[in-house]
Amino acid sequence: MSSAEDLQFKILQHPNPTSPEKRVELMANPTFGRVATDHMVMIRYTEGKGWHDAQVMPRGPLSLDPSAAVLHYAQEIFEGLKAFRTKDDGIAIFRPDANARRFRSSAERMAMPQLPESLFVRAVDELVKADRDWVPSGENASLYIRPFMFANDAFLGVKPASEYMFLVIAAPVGAYFSAGAVTVWVSETYTRAAPGGTGAAKCGGNYAASLLAQAEAKHHGCDQVVFLDAVHHRFVEEMGGMNIFFVFEDGSIRTPPLTGTILPGITRESLLTIAKEKGIKAHEEPYTIDQWLEDARSGRLTEVFACGTAAAVSPIGAVRTKDGEVKIGDGTGAGPVTASLKESLIAAQRGQANDHHHWVHRVL
Ligand code: PLP
Ligand code: COI
Repeated sequence: MSSAEDLQFKILQHPNPTSPEKRVELMANPTFGRVATDHMVMIRYTEGKGWHDAQVMPRGPLSLDPSAAVLHYAQEIFEGLKAFRTKDDGIAIFRPDANARRFRSSAERMAMPQLPESLFVRAVDELVKADRDWVPSGENASLYIRPFMFANDAFLGVKPASEYMFLVIAAPVGAYFSAGAVTVWVSETYTRAAPGGTGAAKCGGNYAASLLAQAEAKHHGCDQVVFLDAVHHRFVEEMGGMNIFFVFEDGSIRTPPLTGTILPGITRESLLTIAKEKGIKAHEEPYTIDQWLEDARSGRLTEVFACGTAAAVSPIGAVRTKDGEVKIGDGTGAGPVTASLKESLIAAQRGQANDHHHWVHRVL
C-alpha cells in the first residue's frame, strides 16, 4: 500500500464548464452556498486499502446505496475555509493546515479514518487551482471551500463504517449576514452539546441538532441562536455556526473557554492571537447569560461580535431572551474594538499583513 501522502490526483477537467459571462453573473451577488463551481475533489477510503482514487472531477451528483451508513447513523464531518483573491491577482487560502488538523480530530471523535493533513491541504489546493476563476475579488468576497467526509458502507449494523468518501466542493460567497448588526436569540429550550458529546467536533449531527433552535431564533426575529451550557443552562457557549466575543468598557475582550462542548474556531483563535498582539487583554473565561444582560444594561459591556469562517467578524447589536431585548451599546453594532479586530483579520486573510504566523497559504 503506497503512502497516502504520495497519492496522485487524477485531473478530469469539466468538459463543459460555466461560460465566463455566466460565471460573472453568478458571482455578482451569490446567496451563501447556492452557487457551485465547476469541479469537486473526491478521495475514497476502504479499510485495508487506505486512501485511494484521488480525483479532481466535474462537480455532479453522487450515487449512494440507500443503506449507506451516513444516511442512517450520521457518520459525517466537514470543514469550512476560504480562499481570497490577493492584490497581485494571486490566491491565498487562510490557515488550511488548521482546518486539516481539526478535520483529523473530528474524524477521531466520530470513529472515522484520519485523512493525513498534507493530503487534506493538497486536495483543497487542487480544487482551488481547477476552479481558480471562481475566486472573487470584491470586498467581503471569497471562495468558501467545504471539505467533508462521510461513511458510505452499504450496511445497516451500527458500527464504524469501513468505507468512506472525502470530497471538497466550493462556492463563491459574499458577506454571510446582510449589512447591519446581528440580533441573537438565547435558547433556553435547547442545548447544542453536552460534556462527553460531540460539541468540539465539526460533525453534521451538531448542526442537525441546532436547526430547531435556529428556527426558534428566526421565529423571534433574530438572525442567530446563542446556546447555553447543557449542565447549568447559564454559561454562554457559542452560536449555531460561529463563536462569540464580548468587549468591555476597559477595552478587554472575553470569549468562552474551550471546554469540549464548543467548536474550537480557527477565527476565534486567530482573533485571540491578533488581539494579544494589539495589546488588547483577551480572556478565555466563562460568562453567564445573567452577567451578559446585566453588563449590557449597565454599559460595562460595550460590544459583542460573532466570528467564524463564514461570518468573519459580525457585530451583534442586541440580545433577546423570552423576557425581552437588551441592546449592546447603541444597538447599531458599531464599535472600535470589533472594527479594529475585523480589519486586522481581513488584512491577514488577504495576505496584506506581515505573515509572521505563516497563516497565508498561497496557491497561485
Ligand atoms: N462554531 C460553530 C458551531 C461553527 O459552525 C463555526 C464555523 O465553522 C465556528 C464556531 C467558527 O469556526 P471557524 O472560525 O473555524 O470557522
Ligand atoms: C463556517 O463558518 O465554515 C461554518 O461552517 C458555519 C456555517 C454557518 C456555514
